[in-house]
Amino acid sequence: MSEKTFFITTPIYYVNDVPHFGHAYTTVAADALARYQRLRGRDVFFLTGTDEHGQKVAKAAAERGQTPQQYVDVISGAFKRMWERLHVKYDRFIRTSEPEHMALVQKVFARLREQGDISLGEYEGWYCTPCETFLLESELVDGNCPDCGRQVERLKQEAYFLRTSAWGERIRQYIVDHPEFVRPESSRQETLGFIDQGLRDACVTRRALEWDIPVPGDEKHTIYVWFDALLNYLTAAGYLSDEATFARRWPADVQLMGKEILPRFHATTWPAVLMALGLPLPRMLFANGWLLTEDGDKMSKSAGNVVDPVVLAERIARIAGGDADLCADAVRYYLLREISFGQDGRFVSEAVVKRYNADLANDLGNLWHRSAPLLKRYCDGVVPRAEQPTELGAAVAEAAGGLEEQMANLRYREALQDIWAVIRRGNEYIDRRAPWNLAKSGDRPALHTVFYDLCDCLFGLTALLHPFMPAVAERLRGELGVADRAVSWDDCRGGAYPAGTRIAPGKPLFPRIDMKDFAAAAAVVGEPSEGRPAARSVASDEKGVREEAMADTKLISFHEFEKLDLRVGEVLEAEKVPGADKLLKLKVDIGDEQRTMVAGVAEQFAPEELIGKKLVVVANLEPATIRGVESNGMILAATEGRTALALVTVDRDCPNGSPVH
Ligand code: MSP
Repeated sequence: MSEKTFFITTPIYYVNDVPHFGHAYTTVAADALARYQRLRGRDVFFLTGTDEHGQKVAKAAAERGQTPQQYVDVISGAFKRMWERLHVKYDRFIRTSEPEHMALVQKVFARLREQGDISLGEYEGWYCTPCETFLLESELVDGNCPDCGRQVERLKQEAYFLRTSAWGERIRQYIVDHPEFVRPESSRQETLGFIDQGLRDACVTRRALEWDIPVPGDEKHTIYVWFDALLNYLTAAGYLSDEATFARRWPADVQLMGKEILPRFHATTWPAVLMALGLPLPRMLFANGWLLTEDGDKMSKSAGNVVDPVVLAERIARIAGGDADLCADAVRYYLLREISFGQDGRFVSEAVVKRYNADLANDLGNLWHRSAPLLKRYCDGVVPRAEQPTELGAAVAEAAGGLEEQMANLRYREALQDIWAVIRRGNEYIDRRAPWNLAKSGDRPALHTVFYDLCDCLFGLTALLHPFMPAVAERLRGELGVADRAVSWDDCRGGAYPAGTRIAPGKPLFPRIDMKDFAAAAAVVGEPSEGRPAARSVASDEKGVREEAMADTKLISFHEFEKLDLRVGEVLEAEKVPGADKLLKLKVDIGDEQRTMVAGVAEQFAPEELIGKKLVVVANLEPATIRGVESNGMILAATEGRTALALVTVDRDCPNGSPVH
């Protein structure tokens, strides 16, 4: 029989809003594990996707005046785009609205009903639509949902139930006997506590919701979104459709999810379904903690406090003058390095920049950007053969050995700490061996050894870094002159780098960022991003960009448009903002008053070019202080990428302050 596939899953995400950092956290972690396993030669199947049924999705579509299908098509596309931008390389993106999946759900439902594991009864209790959860009276907190705190709906209706209670003791025993099944320990204990309260049969249908999957042979009911969603893992594994594939893929090796959906759904309902079907349970369910905001709240769509990782990466790239792909990797790095995977952690944009400066620009960037010029100067950029024993290669090999244990336990943070110990050692090695002194003293064998050792170390590091930062690893390999060699685990054994290679160093990988520029950038020229309008405001912040992403999914009403106070304004004065290359401070006459506005167009327009121009401005934007200057309003420009191409002006003279509609 062929090798068992290493099967990794993320939860499938609800499509009631666009993706954010919380989703990215679980998905990037799954991607790093998938890449690591691929690198170790495993046949990997990495599954992610979108959960497209349920009342809240139907509601979100209706609010936007769209059919559910139109709506889910757009949002699932937004998830795919985000994964692409964050270098998430999945093998299958499942959508629960796919006919193949819907057919499987109906088949499984029918089979369990036939077996007597699903039967008709009456549900009387509460339902939280935002969480799509059935709740008992005793579970409510002050009459509201215990998880999201929102209002719940009373339900009393005929419904089908899964006999979860019948499997409770067996599930409990399985968790006790297999300590590696539910991780981390806190989630395992929580699950045992949940089971000990007594598992009740799970309601698995709703009263004929239009957008959900119909119960086979009973049109009065549709299948509950969680029952439908959990089965995505079986659809993708090939259950009941491709026996050979299913035999290779199932059971899943690692199922990742946020801690809120582990005890009730993945560690009880899901095993009950699998046991009833006579299928083995997944090998590991691992719950990541929550990303919290600075104030300690869970980052979530419904709380409206989410940050878009792609916007952040683009902002970092723009301020640093760096590469957007490498900065997307910097965001991946932050997520996996900053927070212990099973625990909650606070997300702070400034902390991303701190890590960027300290770990990426300083440690990793320096190791390469110090080595390369020396190698050019003393060896004409061709890596010599080591003529004496080396030491860094062995350090890389040792770190590679340690990674196995760390990755088996999803200890991303510790894995990266170990890799960074090697990087720091490399920098310390340059200081200690001082190649410039070796060159001066004419000790060529020692000099050659140092250069080989450094390049071999960096080469090995590309393999170690690949799971976490694939674009960075690829860039470094190109600069090390080995772009044509596919990354391989063998690269980090020490001594694998081919001597005689000519290096091809490029621009700094991670140009340093001044924190002041970062703070100011929240309000400067347009972050480019796919699908966003070409003519955009000159000032923009993350919230604005997010709203633009949402604009993909809905039209605005005339009433909403009317909220904008657009006017013709004449630029009276223009000057550079001291210490900020991109900013101009303008005095603009908007009819009834003169306003100061800060615009990020200094690289494209000289101050004198603007004086006397009649521009279209947004007059009712809330003030923002940028580099110490209070900006009251914003000029508009057409942009391409990071560059303002043309200012939005009027095509003939008109009085200052004329409204623009
Ligand atoms: N559709 C269900 C899951 C069905 S799986 C068979 C669902 N979807 S969700 O869109 O609400 O996404 C939940 C998952 O997103 C969490 O379990 C977690 O993996 C991730 N996260 C969303 N917000 C998060 C944080 N603030 N922090 C960490 N992870 C978060 O539940």
